[in-house]
Amino acid sequence: MPQGYVLGVGKTRFGPTSKSLPSLAQEAILAALKDAGLEIGDIDAFIVANYLGGPNEGRLHLNAVVAGLMPGLNLPGWRVEAACASGGVAVHQALLALSRYERVLVVGVERMSGIPGMQLTRNIGMAGDLDLDQSAGLNFPASYALVAQRHMQAYGTTTRDLELISLKNHDNARLNPLAHFYHKTVTQADIDAGAMVASPLRLFDCCPVSDGAAAAVLSAEPRDRRSVPVLGSALSTDAISLSQRSTHTSFAAARTAASNAYRQAGVTARDVDFAEVHDCFTIAEVVAMEDLALCDPGEATRLIREGVTARDGELPINASGGLKAGGHAIGATGVGQVYEVVQQLRGEAGGRQLGKARIGLTHNVGGVGGTCAVHIMGRPDES
Ligand code: COA
Repeated sequence: MPQGYVLGVGKTRFGPTSKSLPSLAQEAILAALKDAGLEIGDIDAFIVANYLGGPNEGRLHLNAVVAGLMPGLNLPGWRVEAACASGGVAVHQALLALSRYERVLVVGVERMSGIPGMQLTRNIGMAGDLDLDQSAGLNFPASYALVAQRHMQAYGTTTRDLELISLKNHDNARLNPLAHFYHKTVTQADIDAGAMVASPLRLFDCCPVSDGAAAAVLSAEPRDRRSVPVLGSALSTDAISLSQRSTHTSFAAARTAASNAYRQAGVTARDVDFAEVHDCFTIAEVVAMEDLALCDPGEATRLIREGVTARDGELPINASGGLKAGGHAIGATGVGQVYEVVQQLRGEAGGRQLGKARIGLTHNVGGVGGTCAVHIMGRPDES
């Protein structure tokens, strides 16, 4: 039995914009309501996912900010923060909230552009451990560089493998009008020219700095033949410090969330036709595939080299362009992944529509594996 249904989804373009945080949220909410064929008065509760509103622009209490977009309704609403997994956690919470409220609106929103680089890196770094990791210089690119180095030592992963992921995801983003790098053709020469960020990760191994919002309307019951069933929804956490982990080539929170979501959905990793995974850095796509049991540990790079994860491969990964090229508007990302999977399952993904899209999965990670939310969705007409 499904955990709930996605009645409608909406998304802004991810990328730099002068639009304010409330206006980005409004744009996504209106699009999701329109997609669901509903009015704001049909909503019974709402959840706002955001990470950087406080540190970046001194804007907190975002449930009341979003309530200002729907004056007079006085709905129950709250804000969720779980670093880059804020959106996925909000979707999980919305499904839980369906035991109390008939229709729950989730909106993930973030503004990141225009903040000086050092300040932004420090603000993003707050999602990592303060006592041990940050003091050792482990900001986000450095932490994922460590993961990449360990994966290379353990499994022979190469920088070429990471480049192939970047090329694939940039190629996919060129078919996604809402992607950060929709207009950018990325070649091997661009990748070669990219500056070193944290060895071995170069510019094109990193997600960009994006603004944006995404929204979804969830309900315990389907509304029409476009309502997409959520078959599995699982959340798991892990100790925040990398010093407390037994391995750095895999995230226990992701493995646990994945196995719980598969069990709930009554499917196995083999049943997954396509996935939107949290490729904040290219190495994270490798780790995600292995944590989701889409392949054995150390096997993801072979699938990438053989084109299995390409748009026309057997198991397309990040057809939207992923975080790498689709963009990573932190608090919005987990909801944006749901937007993409819903579009694919309905057969409404336009030029990037996948051939086989019956079971789709989202994998949204906060910090360096501190939080992971996994959602599994099925075709609208087969629930
Ligand atoms: N991938 C590809 N191109 C990128 C890029 C990225 N990640 N980031 C910026 N660019 C491009 C810009 O589009 C711009 O191109 P243009 O000159 O053609 O317009 C150029 O590089 C310079 O952009 P700028 O914003 O000055 O880059 P930067 O050097 O300040 O920032 C990073 C680059 C990698 C440091 C930044 O993108 C970053 O911090 N990414 C990681 C964000 C993060 O940690 N998120 C959370 C992860 S969990």
